[in-house]
Parts: sequence; structure tokens; C-alpha cells
Amino acid sequence: MAVTPVIVAIDGPSGTGKSSTSKAVAARLGLGYLDTGAQYRAMTWWMLANGVDVADAAAVAAACAKPSIVSGTDPLAPTITVDGTDVAGPIRGREVTSAVSAVSAVPEVRARITELQRSLASETAAAAGGIVVEGRDIGTTVLPAADVKIFLTASPEARAARRSAELSGADAAGLAATREALLKRDAADSGRTASPLAKAADATEVDTTELTLEQVIECVVTLVEAARRPV
Ligand code: DC
Repeated sequence: MAVTPVIVAIDGPSGTGKSSTSKAVAARLGLGYLDTGAQYRAMTWWMLANGVDVADAAAVAAACAKPSIVSGTDPLAPTITVDGTDVAGPIRGREVTSAVSAVSAVPEVRARITELQRSLASETAAAAGGIVVEGRDIGTTVLPAADVKIFLTASPEARAARRSAELSGADAAGLAATREALLKRDAADSGRTASPLAKAADATEVDTTELTLEQVIECVVTLVEAARRPV
């Protein structure tokens, strides 16, 4: 049965399982995948690599049209390049992680990256039958007409434990530091003026604290399948 392209927006704070869920849902349903956080990280990497002071919003705004940021949308092998350089590794480093909230709060940065996201989403939806886009403001600002909107949450403890396990293997001190860094970044992302992290009024909220990854994937796949319509 032929179905219409489906656009899926998955938002939420760090450590809620957004990336793992989004990639798995896209792979299972044969859709494209876009990690919008990676685009903000790539912009931040470029600013740091080019000596732009990330605390100077005017300098960041003046420079943000320069880098060419390209995302590959295969959920099994997502890629991200800046001016042709593969930055998938460096954008996960501590330096980028601590600077990304400041860079992504600059309205000119958001306008530029939002435009990239919208055109990639419509191209991929047409070519691949749909796309899963994960971020902080996808259901509210980037793709407010998305067919399915999900907002993932989890307790701060569960989010810190997941992030620590990803980073290093958790000891108590590492866990406390991760929890603190994560809450600080969430507060900055939720408190900024330009397109803050927020749940869209029509999004389905899924609290993943007590769920396994497989259960979250199943839940989202069911919601997407229910939204797909025959052509
Ligand atoms: O999902 P992530 O941790 O890789 O995202 C990195 C940062 O990018 C996050 O702190 C906030 C920002 N971001 C954003 O402002 N809007 C998005 N749609 C996605 C990420």
C-alpha cells in the first residue's frame, strides 16, 4: 500500500533517548533521519576552530553564514561535515558541548540552521517517504506542521545515568558532575529567548524514565504508523 510522506518531530532535553529512538524508528520504517543538535554542534565546532569568541553574540552572528554544514540522512550511517571535513567525532567533545548552548541561542544562527533543516526535511521526505527530525524546537518552530510530534522526557537522575554510561561508565562523582552539566545546559536551552526547548501543544509526551529503549521505539513506531495515510 502506498502511503503519503510522513514528517516526525522528536523533541526533548538531553539524555531522554532522543537520538537512539529517532534513528531506530527511522531505520525500522525506512525513513530519513536528521540530528539537528549535530548541526548546532557543527556550527559551534567551526566557531571554535576559527577563533570566534562564542561569548560574543554579535561576532557569532556575523560569522554564522560562512560554514557549509551538510548532514547525511541515512539513519544507519548519519554523517555531518563542515566545509567538507567530517566532524562527527570532534562535535561530541567537551569543548563543543560546553559552548553549544551559547552559539545556539544566537537568533542568526537559529535562522540559518532552521532554513537548512526545513529544506533537508522536505527534500528527504519527498525522496525517502518521510523523515524523523530530532531536536529541541522541531515541533514548535522548525516543522510546526509535522504529522507526528513527540516530546520525550525522563527524570534528571535517569538522564544523567544514561549520559554517564555513554560517556565513561558511571562512578558517583562522574554521575553528579554529568547531572549538573546536563541540568545547566537544559536550563540554558529552555530559558533562551530564540526558539527555546519546549513541548508543542499538540505533541504527545512520553516519559521514558521507566521504559526500555525498545519500549520507547515501539511506542513511537505505533504513533507514526497510525498517522500514515494511504495515497
Ligand atoms: O541534542 P544535542 O545535545 O546534540 O544538542 C546540542 C545543543 O544544540 C543543545 O544543547 C541545544 C542545541 N539545539 C537546539 O538549540 N535546537 C535544536 N533543535 C537542537 C539542538
